[in-house]
Amino acid sequence: MAQNVITKDTESLAIAAAEHFVASARAAIARRGRFTAALAGGSTPRGVYRRLAEKEFSKRVEWAHVHLFWGDERCVPPDHPDSNYGMAYETLIAHVPIPGEQVHRMRGEDPPLEAAAAYEELLRAHFGTGKQTFDLVLLGMGEDGHCASLFPGTAAIHETERWVVAHYVDKLDAWRITLTPAVLNVADEVAFIVSGKEKAERVRQVQNDAYRPGTLPAQVIRPANGRLNWYLDSLAASRLRV
Ligand code: 6PG
Repeated sequence: MAQNVITKDTESLAIAAAEHFVASARAAIARRGRFTAALAGGSTPRGVYRRLAEKEFSKRVEWAHVHLFWGDERCVPPDHPDSNYGMAYETLIAHVPIPGEQVHRMRGEDPPLEAAAAYEELLRAHFGTGKQTFDLVLLGMGEDGHCASLFPGTAAIHETERWVVAHYVDKLDAWRITLTPAVLNVADEVAFIVSGKEKAERVRQVQNDAYRPGTLPAQVIRPANGRLNWYLDSLAASRLRV
């Protein structure tokens, strides 16, 4: 069952999500000696990563035991302004003592299909059997209900075998690399981070309307063990009955 964490504004949303990241990291490292997270792209997580980079938060994470992956990537070089890796590097990675070899970016500069296949290999090597994958997946949600790069009407929403796919997204006129539900739904926990009034109705539809992931891709995210949290500011939550 999804849990909603509703904060008054984007500032407190970033703090709540950063706190959650720290708590998840500490629990995973205590339990199994490492913490593996998938980061979201887009703009909403910027505030979370900046908070996480602040001493008050970063000093509570044993970065030597953290592995970072991405939920999706634009097919651009890492120093391109659109790069999800580049955004996370600038706001978080450059400011915390995580070993470089534990930052596993999707190679957006490579041919998309090759980059997707290489990332799948990397993930399967990291997780082994894949019974349980990420300790925490952070996801944003677009106004159209997409998450990662699972856009409405794309086959990737219904992918049950491959963990990573590359696809051309018509509406963006661009290639994207994305994790699929096959790997996302065996994560220990998924946390959406969504802010803004413009997403309120979509949040309501995703959470309350009939299951139709082809139109509302975020609905396809249903971790097998049920640990799904929505971190929402009051505007994004304004259409929910609470
Ligand atoms: C991306 C993201 C995408 C994002 C949503 C929400 O590469 O753009 O992974 O899924 O999370 O589009 O983006 P905002 O947070 O910018 O609204």
